[in-house]
Amino acid sequence: MDAVHPNVFIPPRPPIPARQLPFHQFLRAIRTNALTMWTETAYQEDVLVRRFLGRSQMLLNAPEAIHRVLVENPSNYRRSPASIRILRPITGNGLLLSEGEDWRLQRRTIAPSLAPRTLPVLARHIVTSTHEAIAALGAQTNQQINLLAAMQNLALDIAGRSMFSLETRQYGPAMRALLTEYALNYSRPHMLDMVLPPSIPTLRDLGRRRFQRRWMAFVSEIMQARLAAPATDMPRDLFDLLRAARDPESGQGFSHDQLRDQIATMILAGHETTAVTLFWSLLLLSGAPDEQRRVAEEARSVEITPDNAMTVMPRLVRTRAVISEAMRLYPPAFAIAREAIGPDRAGGIDIPPRSVLLIAPWVLHRHQRLWRDPDAFDPSRFLPDAPPVPRFAYLPFGAGPRVCVGAQFALAEATLVLAMLIRDFDVALDDPRPVMPVAIVTTQPNHPPTFRLQSR
Ligand code: HEM
Repeated sequence: MDAVHPNVFIPPRPPIPARQLPFHQFLRAIRTNALTMWTETAYQEDVLVRRFLGRSQMLLNAPEAIHRVLVENPSNYRRSPASIRILRPITGNGLLLSEGEDWRLQRRTIAPSLAPRTLPVLARHIVTSTHEAIAALGAQTNQQINLLAAMQNLALDIAGRSMFSLETRQYGPAMRALLTEYALNYSRPHMLDMVLPPSIPTLRDLGRRRFQRRWMAFVSEIMQARLAAPATDMPRDLFDLLRAARDPESGQGFSHDQLRDQIATMILAGHETTAVTLFWSLLLLSGAPDEQRRVAEEARSVEITPDNAMTVMPRLVRTRAVISEAMRLYPPAFAIAREAIGPDRAGGIDIPPRSVLLIAPWVLHRHQRLWRDPDAFDPSRFLPDAPPVPRFAYLPFGAGPRVCVGAQFALAEATLVLAMLIRDFDVALDDPRPVMPVAIVTTQPNHPPTFRLQSR
């Protein structure tokens, strides 16, 4: 591998443990920061196996093994008990946790609502929200500012408007409070969450169920408010698109409860992931002023309006490369977990039934055999003339039939917002403490650092 160029920015990462963590420390790492549970060999080998809670737990880095699990034989793999326990209260019976025929039907019905053809409907909300956010940020230039909170609020506003055409002033604070309550109390996997099948509730599950009732009632309330808005001929938002969605085979649409669970799923899957992508992109650009200048030049060369957002996207290649590189270094979905149903063989590895498989973008994206200078921030690896990224080495959105259904929307959102922000502001970090990634549900910073913005 080439030596790192002296001008290259290497952002901080958590220390790598020298040897395999003993059981209780491993368990603690899963609960507090999953990024600290892998030793150096994880970033060098094709596969890592350990016995954990009576099962094989395998970390897969080999492309053939990943291909087998996610693309070739996905029906032999289901979501792990811990994922089901943690995500069910927020996503209900929506797409994320559904399986088998139920999943196929839901996916067929939803996918067209998030296809490239419908993105212009959603992209106009992205641009309108960002214009307002920029006006608010413009009033805070040359002051210390918390850009993590600003990106979370903006992503939530975009989610609210692209889903419901509603400004989030009314519902945003309550939604954030509920999601924060959930993150603090119920989102960390404990031992019983991983050992017991989802059909046997743990004590924490009882709290999760009570939370689910409150959360779903809240989503229903927003839906009622949205239903009271006068009908239009053209779809305005994801709510209109999903309400009109029909399974192409049976012609069936969603019931009220099914629609509510899909909306709840999209709020969870869509807003925090995009918020952290934007946060990490801004942090990286603050450490690489030359790169930031290049993004600013590109952003100034196009005018982004609510009507043309998707048309100008192909011209934002450098901005898009920064987003791709930020998702490589800090993948919001740091690990994709599956439980094997029956025995299988993946890339020459025997997979026993009930083993837990981890395909971890965090590890894959920094794997020493797959990437040149894996820890360096170098967006040029994603420019159109760069050599192609190795197969199955870059999976911020997963792969195969369960690949993120919102990937195109998320990429459009992150790219447009970043271009608009960097066009208007020079972004500098103004905080002496190093910013470390912490993975619980998504890859977050360990503290919200302060930044300073200057108008360009
Ligand atoms: C940067 C932003 C995002 C990232 C990094 C991301 C990442 C992912 C990943 C890795 C998966 C696959 C999980 C697996 O195979 O187990 C996934 C699935 C999913 N994502 Fe995203 N996502 C993002 C944004 C969004 C948005 C904006 C939406 C909705 C509007 C969304 C909705 C979903 C749904 C519904 C699934 C489940 C798909 C299925 O199981 O068929 N995501 N996402």
